[in-house]
Amino acid sequence: ELGLYSHFMQKEIHEQPQAVAATAEVFLDGGFVPENFGSNAREVFQSINSIKILACGTSYYAALTAKYWLESIAKIPTDVEIASEYRYRDVIADPQQLVITISQSGETLDTMEALKYAQSLGHCHSLSVCNVMESALPRASSLVLYTRAGAEIGVASTKAFTTQLVVLFGLAVTLGKLRGHIDAEREHAHTEALRQLPGSIQHALNLEPQVAAWAQKFAQKSSALFLGRGIHYPIALEGALKLKEITYIHAEAYPAGELKHGPLALVDENMPIVVIAPNDALLDKVKANMQEVGARGGELFVFTDLDSHFEAAQGVHLIRTPRHTGALSPIIHSIPVQLLAYHAALARGTDVDKPRNLAKSVTVE
Ligand code: M6R
Repeated sequence: ELGLYSHFMQKEIHEQPQAVAATAEVFLDGGFVPENFGSNAREVFQSINSIKILACGTSYYAALTAKYWLESIAKIPTDVEIASEYRYRDVIADPQQLVITISQSGETLDTMEALKYAQSLGHCHSLSVCNVMESALPRASSLVLYTRAGAEIGVASTKAFTTQLVVLFGLAVTLGKLRGHIDAEREHAHTEALRQLPGSIQHALNLEPQVAAWAQKFAQKSSALFLGRGIHYPIALEGALKLKEITYIHAEAYPAGELKHGPLALVDENMPIVVIAPNDALLDKVKANMQEVGARGGELFVFTDLDSHFEAAQGVHLIRTPRHTGALSPIIHSIPVQLLAYHAALARGTDVDKPRNLAKSVTVE
């Protein structure tokens, strides 16, 4: 089943061009139409005033990324919450809110209970983004769109994450179009971006030898910091989670602007710092944040795209990701952080596919 690969995680990382292409097909063949999400989705999408997304772990980071798309492309106020927190607090119900759950397995107990709680409060519109057909969450939701990642065996989620992002991007464009925020030209640009995505992911996968060389250094460390801003901040979170999960190295992620409010105190020459820094509107801000780190002796490992004017320097290592892919850039930048964690785990000899203390599907509280 593993074929030429050593681990399921490695295989699943490399399956992403096909998994993403299969998932994007829904929008490329059928267009950005509400019916992709269910026969009554048009009516629901027209009536909602806001969105709440509930999820855990990596699926929660997909939700955080989606918030940027839903607010900038579809102009719908969107709030994201960890399912295990939502289910235990007093929530102010809003029947016009669409509740989205995101789950690879569709069986995560906290997410399921959060959905039931929302429904008990009178939230009637629910959408499940899920990878497993007919699992508990899609069965309990009125609308569903499945990711087409195929079975994901490795405990560390990889292809499920990037395919979730494709569905959520497609949702944002669908809602934006339906609600009159996207003209034909913009829609065409989004379609083309999705069409080119698998190829760009393949380019990012080709960076594996460079990322693996960095990973050897990380394998020697006891701690690492991940920084990003804006839509790349959730990717920094995802990178830190991947590293923690499979290498047992302590890793934290921060929006780079928060450094001086505390975490900068952690930085010294022993602290590797991964920066997700593509050429977007926040690049100059990120560069300023990097200087703060560099001045304290921190070693910077920067993922930046071909368009940004960046030079490697003393204490600053660069890997250039494919040409900037606009709104889909977070999907591209997921690849190198997955590879970094995978190769650091290999170097440390940990059980990549079955990390200690963790289960693939968390069906207990
Ligand atoms: O099946 P789900 O997407 O609901 O799972 C949620 C989390 O348990 C899951 O993403 C977990 O964080 C992964 N092990 C991350 O790699």
